[in-house]
Amino acid sequence: MIVGVDQRHRCISLGLSKGRSASATTLHTFSRIALDQEKGLSLDLSNYFWVNALRQALKRNRREAFSRYFQLATVDASGNPRARTVVYRGLDDDGQSPLFITDTRSNKMHNLHLQPVEACWYFPISREQFRIAGRAEVFTPVHRQHAIIWRGLSDTARVQFFWPAPGNVLIDVDSTQESPNSHDISMPPESFCVVAIRPERIDHLCLGNPQQRIVSEINNALERFDYAWTAVEVTP
Ligand SMILES: Cc1cc2nc3c(=O)[nH]c(=O)nc-3n(C[C@H](O)[C@H](O)[C@H](O)COP(=O)(O)O)c2cc1C
Repeated sequence: MIVGVDQRHRCISLGLSKGRSASATTLHTFSRIALDQEKGLSLDLSNYFWVNALRQALKRNRREAFSRYFQLATVDASGNPRARTVVYRGLDDDGQSPLFITDTRSNKMHNLHLQPVEACWYFPISREQFRIAGRAEVFTPVHRQHAIIWRGLSDTARVQFFWPAPGNVLIDVDSTQESPNSHDISMPPESFCVVAIRPERIDHLCLGNPQQRIVSEINNALERFDYAWTAVEVTP
């Protein structure tokens, strides 16, 4: 791992050697973020890595159910913005790509391939917002996470994937009232999919005293590294 700090421009560069995941234990102690009860969070740019900041936010806010949802924004074929709430389903094996599940027949699926997407995530206890912009990757059923996440769903969550296509005019009201026993929910149907957001830019805002805002960007030009991030503190 390489860390470079440019104090004058309040900027930090971080590179992970090829083959190392951002979830590697070496990063565990990296980026300590202090949470003062009165002043709120205080970020230390010289020790900042957005993945660790996000993990800490998830931990600090875990008793608040809202912290498990984020808003996903996409752009539709007409160029109009579309936003909706989804449930966070963990990070992918790379340790930095948030996962969510959705119905392959839903409108958002048409938009995911068109343009970059952005997740907007607010953590009410630590009062921080992460805006994670990147590309969406829709996993095929052979992907490891596909079966793992399906197995982890409740029966009521699984049965929704057997309903008629979302967004269609509802003709048979009973079709959305069926009990999970009326379908074979042991295996995911074709309507079920897992999506990863491959992050490229993270805008992290902390409403502490003082407020702080750090923008991290991936630098794909650094060939020797799988992931190379630059973080800069900007005016909130
Ligand atoms: C709290 C909450 C959690 C939700 N979680 C999901 C989710 O994980 N996946 C999903 O596809 N839709 C979820 N929805 C429904 C979406 O917000 C949205 O209404 C639906 O997916 C249709 O969106 P679309 O027409 O843009 O595809 C959730 C809604 C709420 C209110």
